[in-house]
Amino acid sequence: MSKSRSLDIAGLVFGGDYNPEQWPEEVWLDDVRLMNAAGVNLVSLGVFSWSKLEPAPERFDFGWLDRVLDLLYAHGIKADLATATASPPPWLVRAHPEMLPVDASGVRLEFGSRQTYCPSSPVWRENTVRLCTKMAKRYGEHPGLAMWHVSNEYGDELSRCWCPASANAFRQWLRRRYLTIDALNAAWGATVWSQIYTDFGQIEPPRATTGPGNPAQRLDFLRFSSDELLGLFSAEVEVLRELTPDVPVTTNFMGISPGTNYWQFAGREDIVSDDAYPDPADADSGYGAGFGYSFMRSAKHQPWLLLESAPSAVNWRDVNVPKTSARRRLDAMAAIAHGCDGVMYFQWRQARQGPERFHSAMVGHRGEASRTFQDSLRLGAELAALAPLKGTTVRARVAMVVDWDSWWASSAPECLPSQRLSWAEQARAWHKAATMLGVTVDMVPAEGPFDGYVALLIPGLFLVTKAQADAITAYAESGGRVLVGCFSGVVDETNSVHNGGAPGPLRQLLGVEVDEFWPLADGETGVFKWGADAFAVSLWQEALEGDARGLSHYEGGPLDGRPAMTENGRARYLSCVLDDAGLVAVLREFLADAGLPVRQTASPIERITRTDGQTDYTFWLNHAEAPQLVETPAGAVDMLTGQCLGPTTTIAAGDVLIAAKHSEEGAGQ
Ligand code: GAL
Repeated sequence: MSKSRSLDIAGLVFGGDYNPEQWPEEVWLDDVRLMNAAGVNLVSLGVFSWSKLEPAPERFDFGWLDRVLDLLYAHGIKADLATATASPPPWLVRAHPEMLPVDASGVRLEFGSRQTYCPSSPVWRENTVRLCTKMAKRYGEHPGLAMWHVSNEYGDELSRCWCPASANAFRQWLRRRYLTIDALNAAWGATVWSQIYTDFGQIEPPRATTGPGNPAQRLDFLRFSSDELLGLFSAEVEVLRELTPDVPVTTNFMGISPGTNYWQFAGREDIVSDDAYPDPADADSGYGAGFGYSFMRSAKHQPWLLLESAPSAVNWRDVNVPKTSARRRLDAMAAIAHGCDGVMYFQWRQARQGPERFHSAMVGHRGEASRTFQDSLRLGAELAALAPLKGTTVRARVAMVVDWDSWWASSAPECLPSQRLSWAEQARAWHKAATMLGVTVDMVPAEGPFDGYVALLIPGLFLVTKAQADAITAYAESGGRVLVGCFSGVVDETNSVHNGGAPGPLRQLLGVEVDEFWPLADGETGVFKWGADAFAVSLWQEALEGDARGLSHYEGGPLDGRPAMTENGRARYLSCVLDDAGLVAVLREFLADAGLPVRQTASPIERITRTDGQTDYTFWLNHAEAPQLVETPAGAVDMLTGQCLGPTTTIAAGDVLIAAKHSEEGAGQ
């Protein structure tokens, strides 16, 4: 029976990763004092503490964690307690060196960083379940336990392994998928390059080899690798469900990231959480974070948590530019705007040792006087004022298709028409264009369900199954609008090109056939001519045939005069990569045509509404470096100042406005 497990914290969450094991106990007292001052109400605890909790096999030292949990609880701070299985202790690795991961060239990676384990290692699985059970039994009843934090960022430092144990598990996975070796050979196109296997035992993971590998084998290996991490997660979740059925479980995502299929992970956790590190040096990074946040709120259609973010600089880019105080605030508010119920940071106190010495923290090396702590005080107070937002949700009327199989298949490192076309870049660009047009976009899996949305954005769906194409087609037949981007409908689930070529089973919906892909050389541009307008094309074009109506055409170049964007009933097909202005124009027309209120001019103001049906909370986030004038609903109240708003308000560069107003129809746009 499914049970609803939610986070028992009043108001919005504010806090961070807390690593007290790195500090003498007297510092802990200062920690809780400062946490109280800043309004911290939740900390992620013990994420990388296995070697401290179990310094030798079955010799546990829980005393320090007992004391920390009690101390935090006594100060009104709850714990997002890790099961501590993100990284193995040295003794485990030395006793079982075979559990160390092996890369594609056969090099076994040494202990010395984190997440040094093979996801398919039986020893690793057994030990994570053992520690998780121990943690659940010891702390399951602790009143300070708010949530379980399982592992950490599955797929971050390590998402796949090529060792013999992985090879073995891969073969078992293939047996389950294909049942017979003949079926595998058919799916993998094994007649090409003399690869017909006669036994599953002959198959290895796609290791470094002489030339290009088999794309079907690679795709299956990526699926398998994601499943292995999901298996590790599920094994711990099972223990926690059994021993602590009322405690919610999370594992932190990393935006929409390629390592693992997050749709599947989300289905097994209670609370979706995300780690987001937008680069302040990148002008587009605010939009990029919003792309990830849109996924988080859509993954379970409920509020989620920003479990990690940077108060200022990170330590892992080549150049780690700090965040201004305004940018930190904007980043936090952007997450809240996107349906997030709390903001947490990596980490609470800036480390003195280890690789993260120069990563910013809520309390900098200078302690209480540090800018990041002073900002933490202010932000904590502001988030407290936003408590009424807790539990409210964002309602979007447009959805974007996100599909990991398709992403994996289209990002193979070899033998595609162009290595430059990236699904993630295209999807981010489409999402940014919608944001600039004032349209909120949810994310959906390729097989739906799509009900409740008036329009579907499919920036690229290289791999599409018959069932997915049927679902998308049925959606359009029942009145939905569909915009499909280039290089879609190319391969089936085995990574084989659909009979007749692209767009495969989307052909009937789109009314086009792709005669040839026509990628552009590096630096080359084409022209997308649309009525009186012309926009720049880069990276990709397609030579289209078919009955669909041409809405725009290529001008000049090898495809001169041929359709660039087409329309067939309620579906449009965009066969090229457009610059930002072109994308905004295409989306504006498409979304307006779908009946959505769309801005006439793209604006760097991101507007999102959260609602509980009674009150609408609308955010205006200014991503620009100049002030912007926005129309505000008369009578709305500024949540942060308590002032009543007039019909227009000026929002300073990098600032945010949050207004509460009695709900009206159409919230979310
Ligand atoms: C995350 C990780 C944290 C910390 C952080 C630094 O990927 O989960 O443990 O390392 O990065 O930015």
